[in-house]
Amino acid sequence: MRTIDDLLAEGVTGRRVLVRADLNVPLDGAEITDDGRIRAVLPTLKALCDAGARVVVCSHLGRPLSQPLGQPRSAPDPKYSLAPVAARLSALLGAEVAFATDTVGDSARRAVDGLTDGQAALLENLRFNPGETSKDDTSRREFAERLASFADAYVDDAFGAVHRKHASVHDVAALLPRYAGGLVLREVEVLRQLTTDPKRPYVVVLGGAKVSDKLAVIDNLLPQVDTLLIGGGMCFTLLAAQGHGVGDSLLEEDQIETSKRLLSQAGDKIVLPTDIVVAQDIADDTETRVVPADGVEAGWKGLDIGPQSVEAFRQRLDGAATVFWNGPMGVFEVAPFAAGTKAVAEAVSEVAGLSVVGGGDSAAAVRALGLDEQAFGHISTGGGASLEYLEGKTLPGLAALEA
Ligand code: 3PG
Repeated sequence: MRTIDDLLAEGVTGRRVLVRADLNVPLDGAEITDDGRIRAVLPTLKALCDAGARVVVCSHLGRPLSQPLGQPRSAPDPKYSLAPVAARLSALLGAEVAFATDTVGDSARRAVDGLTDGQAALLENLRFNPGETSKDDTSRREFAERLASFADAYVDDAFGAVHRKHASVHDVAALLPRYAGGLVLREVEVLRQLTTDPKRPYVVVLGGAKVSDKLAVIDNLLPQVDTLLIGGGMCFTLLAAQGHGVGDSLLEEDQIETSKRLLSQAGDKIVLPTDIVVAQDIADDTETRVVPADGVEAGWKGLDIGPQSVEAFRQRLDGAATVFWNGPMGVFEVAPFAAGTKAVAEAVSEVAGLSVVGGGDSAAAVRALGLDEQAFGHISTGGGASLEYLEGKTLPGLAALEA
């Protein structure tokens, strides 16, 4: 795979470079609540601008098309506009980034034509165009051709989107000289260390709402890991599979049989919480109780792992040589249910070996809970992408760069 260093060595002065970034940041209205993904791609953008390239940045933000992806809405929903990202990007780059109010229309063409050497422009949300996410190869290809017409070279640095077979990730790579950006290279290198002879003990911590999202990764990881610690909403389906009542906690009834199979295959590798923080509502001022994992009563929901479970998880993490963590242990955004996630994140950060935070909510939790990002070996920018990599799947964006 050719890399951005190869492109820089070729010389980029005056060349138009299309950079696919993952600027899919969480927003509260127009306020960016976590700019980790913008900061992660800055080295690539700076290197290209410093070398005199005319940089055309593109990204998706959220899922503006009605589900399933690929179905057009009547008009783009402004709440998914990348305008706030353009402002933050300008501030972080220390240079004005022109913002095109469409993706491949007149505004985009003007923004690209107006670039001088060393300048960057950001196109509006790729997903405002049905061609970006279409399952139809011709529609995707047509949209990719319009994007490709803006550039002489393509750099993919959108690690968080490499698992999507979308026009800007997959199809455009076939239309221009293609290069992997530094972020993609770093992410893949770390994930490779997790999948190729990881140092032992190798402990994986999984959380988040749904066990159905994690079944494939659990299946793939079980033979490789020494211990799999499971918290978050997903643990209740596994507890139910063990025959425990889970009250009003999150439960995926249709996953109970599969969970039983996983538990029986796993032997003692899977460790579940033994106590749970429960409440009747998800609110800052709600009454909370700590109950045994088999004692969640009707009317109460499990919203965090309890202190005994935190201690057990901490002991398993202490002495681990390789750790991968994906998914919060509870509803960490609401103060009474944040302790489990915070304690587990701290224990992961204290691991002497390689500690990897697998993107998405866990990366946001690290920053929201005020933890030191530098204490972790690597904080991935891709939640779904890193999980799919660990599932052993072919990722369309990486395959397109390698082709
Ligand atoms: C993510 O948030 O994981 C990436 O930006 C991909 O977004 P998507 O799941 O909407 O494709």
